Amino acid sequence: MDKMKCAVLGATGVAGQQFIEALAGHPWFEITGLYASEKSANKKYKEACTWHSPTPLEEAVGEQKVQLLDNVGSDLKQYEIIFSALPSEVARQIEGACAKEKPVISTAAAYRYEEDVPVLIPEVNAEHAGLIKVQQKGRGWKGFVVPGPNCTTMGLAITLKPIADSFGIKNVFMTSMQALSGAGYPGVPSLDIIDNIIPYISKEEEKVEQEAVKILGKCSGSSVANAGFRISCTCTRANVSDGHTESVFVETEKHAAVEDVSAAMERFNSECKKKFGHLPSAPERTIVIKEEENRPQPRLDRELGGGMSTVVGRIRKDAVFENGVKYVLLSHNTKKGAAKGEVMAAEYLHKAGYF
Ligand SMILES: NC(=O)c1ccc[n+]([C@@H]2O[C@H](COP(=O)([O-])OP(=O)(O)OC[C@H]3O[C@@H](n4cnc5c(N)ncnc54)[C@H](OP(=O)(O)O)[C@@H]3O)[C@@H](O)[C@H]2O)c1
Repeated sequence: MDKMKCAVLGATGVAGQQFIEALAGHPWFEITGLYASEKSANKKYKEACTWHSPTPLEEAVGEQKVQLLDNVGSDLKQYEIIFSALPSEVARQIEGACAKEKPVISTAAAYRYEEDVPVLIPEVNAEHAGLIKVQQKGRGWKGFVVPGPNCTTMGLAITLKPIADSFGIKNVFMTSMQALSGAGYPGVPSLDIIDNIIPYISKEEEKVEQEAVKILGKCSGSSVANAGFRISCTCTRANVSDGHTESVFVETEKHAAVEDVSAAMERFNSECKKKFGHLPSAPERTIVIKEEENRPQPRLDRELGGGMSTVVGRIRKDAVFENGVKYVLLSHNTKKGAAKGEVMAAEYLHKAGYF
């Protein structure tokens, strides 16, 4: 079978590099175009970017020439899928222009909050992909834009899904300790973050609060009715390279004993394996539950499932809510929370016949 030809926009950045890594040797997709800003255009990829991953860059990709983003419009015929890892302001115009002709799968926030755009996590809301047809009809596009969630929303939505399905959710409180790679490259100045925690990330709390209720909402066909729970977040930046840690408190509708929450997460794992286990980027376990009292830890646990598992630990009863549970989660922000998660979404859409 011929592989589908893909372009990566914003290929030199943190999320762009993870697209390169996630697509290396991919059985269905191959990268044939790399795009970035004027700063990188016309250079070999290996000279244009500061490669961050411990996995060596593939020689063939390193030798490819980076193209100027402005040229992607005239190159569109060459591609079957566009993966975008652009800053949101840049993504807004370019993704829309590409979507007139081709599917665009994006890590950027530019289209996430539009009524006809699904914020897709296949394991959580595969049925929202139906909005693609609404988007195409309403906008007159042959292609479409499907973004993934913010990297902090990803692990939260995945862990809330089995809790919502089994017990119902009334309220959620979440405090994050987010990795530096979440801020892109070069990101947060070293003198600001060494020996420190920064208790503010611009627009992050609003994004997580808005996205979580959309992702867990019901798709009626032409739009999504947000889930009915209330959510309040505090997002902080911690001195960690990769992997967002989140402390989560959930007030449930029905009583949720600790062992019942673990069992609901394990049932969710089995369902995900049945539905998505055939996708090349899917992990063996969507949620890995750690029993040790000092886990999850970013350095030790972020690569579980190839960076695609959400790692949950410290599941405890909450003493404040009548029906409540609390836990700590860890999600790899540039893998499941960005590029590799979007590659898996593309795999799902391909198998579901959307390309
Ligand atoms: N980092 C994460 O963990 C993460 C997780 C989820 C979602 N996201 C989202 O993914 C997107 C990329 O984030 P990032 O962390 O990878 O950022 P980044 O490291 O700053 O990379 C940005 C990329 O976009 C390119 N770019 C910037 N301005 C451009 C312009 N005017 N024209 C053409 N190309 C331009 C850059 O090219 P040059 O190198 O040539 O400047 C680079 O390739 C953002 O929307 C972000 O919110 C990131």
